[in-house]
Amino acid sequence: MTSEIRFLMCAPNHYDVDYVINPWMEGNIHKSSRDRAVEQWEKLYHIIKERAIVDLVQPQVGVPDMVFTANAGLVLGENVVLSRFYHKERQGEEPFFKQWFESQGYHVFELPKDLPFEGAGDALFDREGRWLWAGYGFRSELDSHPLIAKWLDVEVLSLRLMDERFYHLDTCFCPLTDGYLLYYPPAFDAYSNRLIELRVPPSRRIAIAEEDAVNFACNAVNIDRTVIMNQASAGLKQRLQAIGFEVIETPLTEFLKAGGAAKCLTLRVTEPVRAEVHANAAIETRIIQMEGHLLDAGLINRALDLIVDMGGSFQVLNFNLGVQRQSTSSAEIKVSAPSHDAMEEIMSQLIDLGAVPRPQEICDINWETVEMAGVAPDDFYVTTIYPTEVRVNCEWVKVHNQRMDAAIVVSNTPDGVTARCKLLRDLQVGDRVIVGVEGIRTVRKAESREQRNAQEFGFMGAGVSSERRVELVVEQIAWELRQIRDQGGKVVVVAGPVVIHTGGGEHLSKLIREGYVQALLGGNAIAVHDMEQAMLGTSLGVDMKRGVSVRGGHRHHLKVINTIRRHGSIANAVEAGVLTSGVFYECVKNNVPFSLAGSIRDDGPLPDTQMNLVKAQEDYARLIQGADLILMLSSMLHSIGVGNMTPAGVRLVCVDINPAVVTKLSDRGSVESVGVVTDVGLFLSLLVRQLDKLTSPYRLAQPVG
Ligand SMILES: NC(=O)c1ccc[n+]([C@@H]2O[C@H](COP(=O)([O-])OP(=O)(O)OC[C@H]3O[C@@H](n4cnc5c(N)ncnc54)[C@H](O)[C@@H]3O)[C@@H](O)[C@H]2O)c1
Repeated sequence: MTSEIRFLMCAPNHYDVDYVINPWMEGNIHKSSRDRAVEQWEKLYHIIKERAIVDLVQPQVGVPDMVFTANAGLVLGENVVLSRFYHKERQGEEPFFKQWFESQGYHVFELPKDLPFEGAGDALFDREGRWLWAGYGFRSELDSHPLIAKWLDVEVLSLRLMDERFYHLDTCFCPLTDGYLLYYPPAFDAYSNRLIELRVPPSRRIAIAEEDAVNFACNAVNIDRTVIMNQASAGLKQRLQAIGFEVIETPLTEFLKAGGAAKCLTLRVTEPVRAEVHANAAIETRIIQMEGHLLDAGLINRALDLIVDMGGSFQVLNFNLGVQRQSTSSAEIKVSAPSHDAMEEIMSQLIDLGAVPRPQEICDINWETVEMAGVAPDDFYVTTIYPTEVRVNCEWVKVHNQRMDAAIVVSNTPDGVTARCKLLRDLQVGDRVIVGVEGIRTVRKAESREQRNAQEFGFMGAGVSSERRVELVVEQIAWELRQIRDQGGKVVVVAGPVVIHTGGGEHLSKLIREGYVQALLGGNAIAVHDMEQAMLGTSLGVDMKRGVSVRGGHRHHLKVINTIRRHGSIANAVEAGVLTSGVFYECVKNNVPFSLAGSIRDDGPLPDTQMNLVKAQEDYARLIQGADLILMLSSMLHSIGVGNMTPAGVRLVCVDINPAVVTKLSDRGSVESVGVVTDVGLFLSLLVRQLDKLTSPYRLAQPVG
């Protein structure tokens, strides 16, 4: 026997696979052989007994997994944190283990009932006693870690498990003597891998391959320089031997059927205690509030999923469900994250969903001063399309010029503190820019059930693209265009050259002529092809009437560019009588402003095309100001640009033949956007026909009902 090292084991008298609570158990119910299990367990027992003291706890009927004593609790010195099993199938083990610990004189700490923690299966001491590695993600909750740190007076390093085959930390992670670590990196998220790499130098890290991981090579018992495991590849054995470890393999295949091996079958009850190590856990906790149609708009699910996906955990402290169809719900959620950085990332995403940090907790945002023009402080808050408010002197202050991907600058004015969005390039030395996520909230408009259904219908309906469904969406859009025009509102059209190629030019021209369009945004191409069609009857060399290529037609667009260049601008060409029809003719004639943003693939360009992209962005931003509706027609490039500049609340209608483009453009998480997957030429012809119907005297003369 090496020393005073002690283990707790439990004979497999009642062991069997009786239920499925991990992927290893799948298909193995009652498939393990009790005789073989007893034989394998006894071999392991003797190997350990030769090297340490082994205590035994009495096996009990009805709790077959009690054989896996690693999950009894976590012991340090005289203290033990008793396990709180996640699955009800194992909760029956708790009183038996508690009884055993108490009978041995341990001081037993018990976690709250709804806070799972599965003992030394999910908590492994560094073998030098410097800290405790604690896993979470499948069985144990992150929120248990601060309590463990406090009760055992140790530093806890939280590691998030990502692969359900390795559902407990001890299935993929095994600290060894002298600071070595045997582990399977793909079982952890990126943050946890970084943490491991920070604490364990490369020369001490023994990363294993999947082949060994699935044989539970990490589920090993380490006693001084001996490592006892189910099975290891020749390569792994060599690596361990090369650094002075003796590897003992002992088959534990019957236990693998339940998802456990050597380490799971043992609980080390003598762990190194270091006097200089004290309680510490980097876990941060915040309380947020959410309000709105949390259930039926799916906001609460999205928030909770997001917290977990980003490595945090949550506890719903309060949930008040709105009782009527239109009434809103509210929730108060405790969010925990393994570090400050992880918390900031989670919070910034939650803010986008409309979550608010408990207001009384934060009275002022944090800001830093710009030191170099055009460059924000590192941790600057990146804005979204949603109306945003920031906390100043314990009051919420509205942010002006709302747009996506900007910084928020706060300034003192005679009227008090103001806040507004500023693009990075516009930041000036001395500007005070908000950093971090504290004291920021986005205001999500409460949507009615009808509005949500309408949006879902519009998008999903268009997604399946049945013609009748597209027609229904078009009817709705036509009605809105009509309303906006009649009320003196503003519609901005963003269009790509496909509008012309698909024969939509005449319809768009008509919309402009009839006052449905207040600004037009595009690139060089739409103007070139529109004018090519007006002047030569082709679009990209294709005869638009007959649908066939015209000989020499591929040069047409260059001839048009040349002509316009000669006149100095599109407007001049209209005035000179050279351009007499088409989309841009109508814009000039009807005083509809347009902006053409240049790109690297532009021929010419036209004199009107703005090749200075910063200026082009400014022109676009100016023209979309005050828009009630933006109609995006088959131009991914320009539509995405416009989407980024547009605050929530402006209705967006995106038409594209590619569902992925429509999804990207209309997925703003708000009712204001609607996507239509269809041919843009067809869409425009339907739209114009519908508008004609709305205004036709025949229709007005129809009897109501
Ligand atoms: N000769 C030129 O100068 C020239 C020619 C072409 C493009 N460009 C420039 O390149 C840039 C990008 O051009 P873009 O906007 O054409 O390209 P884009 O790729 O950004 O967008 C084209 C969109 O049209 C969609 N689409 C294709 N066929 C469709 C149909 N029948 N109905 C509905 N949607 C359809 C596509 O799915 C795509 O999303 C612009 O700046 C443009 O001016 C210049």
